Amino acid sequence: MSVPRTIRRVVLTGFMGAGKSTVGAMLAKTLGWEFLDADTAIEAVAGKTVAEIFAQHGEEAFRSLEAEAVLKNMLRGNLVLALGGGALETESTRRILASAAQTCVIFLDAPLDVLVERCLAQPYAAERPVLADRDGLLRRFNSRLPHYRSAQHTISTKGLSPEAVVARILDVLAGGCISDSATKGATV
Ligand code: S3P
Repeated sequence: MSVPRTIRRVVLTGFMGAGKSTVGAMLAKTLGWEFLDADTAIEAVAGKTVAEIFAQHGEEAFRSLEAEAVLKNMLRGNLVLALGGGALETESTRRILASAAQTCVIFLDAPLDVLVERCLAQPYAAERPVLADRDGLLRRFNSRLPHYRSAQHTISTKGLSPEAVVARILDVLAGGCISDSATKGATV
């Protein structure tokens, strides 16, 4: 599968449980591109797990490591990058993504209850600091939604297998990742 030369990287965004890592790894394999999970990149730099960074240094320290990891990797080509669910809370990251050339940013969307259910089914659910803060979940979800929605494309993943989500992303890429809003505008 080849993608138009105008696209050199795909960035997946969305809340925890959206499937960014699973889908991202499968997509990268299909494209013959590299896959990078931002959380893994942060853990490698810090020499600590995400949970340890939150517990020992706090969320703010984690967010700056996260912003650095995105910045450092945004110039690489043939890359599928899965962002952490909170990466778009950081304004500099939002700016980088909004102005990044040859980059297709895709929001993997699902209702909050589906996302929480998926997270709880994962073996490392207990290690997710943001999931542990149940009261804050809805607030975070709602405040992040407008940022997620600024991606060029939104794919609703509810009821879809990871393979089906990959197939939709491949369609988006084959179409040159023309943004949802541009398409809507053209049909009105
Ligand atoms: C977070 C999501 C996690 C990870 C960290 C914080 C968040 O990434 O970056 O636990 O704030 O939503 P995933 O979305 O890949 O689980």
